[in-house]
Amino acid sequence: MKRKNYPLHIAIIMDGNGRWAKKKGKSRVLGHKEGVKAVYRSVKFALINNIKVLTLYAFSNENWLRSPLEVSNLMILFEEILKKDSLILNKYNIKLKILGNKKKLNSTLQNQIKISESLTSENNGLRLNIAINYGGRQDILSGLKKIMHQILSRKLNLNDIKEDSFASFLSTKNLPPVDLLIRTGGNIRISNFLLWEIAYSELYFTKVFWPDFDQVSFSDAINQFKLRKRNFGK
Ligand code: IPE
Ligand code: IPE
Ligand code: MG
Repeated sequence: MKRKNYPLHIAIIMDGNGRWAKKKGKSRVLGHKEGVKAVYRSVKFALINNIKVLTLYAFSNENWLRSPLEVSNLMILFEEILKKDSLILNKYNIKLKILGNKKKLNSTLQNQIKISESLTSENNGLRLNIAINYGGRQDILSGLKKIMHQILSRKLNLNDIKEDSFASFLSTKNLPPVDLLIRTGGNIRISNFLLWEIAYSELYFTKVFWPDFDQVSFSDAINQFKLRKRNFGK
């Protein structure tokens, strides 16, 4: 059933963990741990509200520039969550996919990603995408290189590259376009998240720090979306 004015694909820039922690006099790492709770709440919200695709920005290409301690803690957190919760994701018929360049992640995390993705690969419920070591520019560039490769080996014709075929070389291939992009934490920017994919997305920015993002905040975003008139240039 297609619901009128309801977003099919929601993407979220989960920002504000560090400032949330600072405000409470806690460490940044604790802020990230509290952020994980908001991830669970959001996934639950998506399940209850029958959202088809939820794409979460967890770690950007540029986030490697943070302190080694923060980076390694985040990587440990990603691995722990995947290890601990893949069975639950599977139980709820969620299909998990990690977007971004996995080559730079350590091998145990890469392995866990393979296990979690293949465990849930046949599921046809909520599509949950988590962007780790993702950058919109890098993703477009990597797609472009794959296309060049195919053209040079004559598997593809330059004239056959259309918007749809180009999109199939991005890590978001097979996903519907993003209807609603939410950013928490108060900053009004994209920070190299989905670039191609948000060409006609509705953008929603909230000052709520990610660890405080709850069902009410999520509903607020969707209610805003429902009020928007989308023209797509028409
Ligand atoms: C977002 O929160 C989470 C990640 C980028 C991993 P931040 O860590 O950026 O939190 P702020 O922006 O410093 O508050
Ligand atoms: C964007 O947040 C990345 C994620 C939420 C994973 P950042 O905190 O890294 O963005 P900037 O540096 O403020 O633009
Ligand atoms: Mg931030």
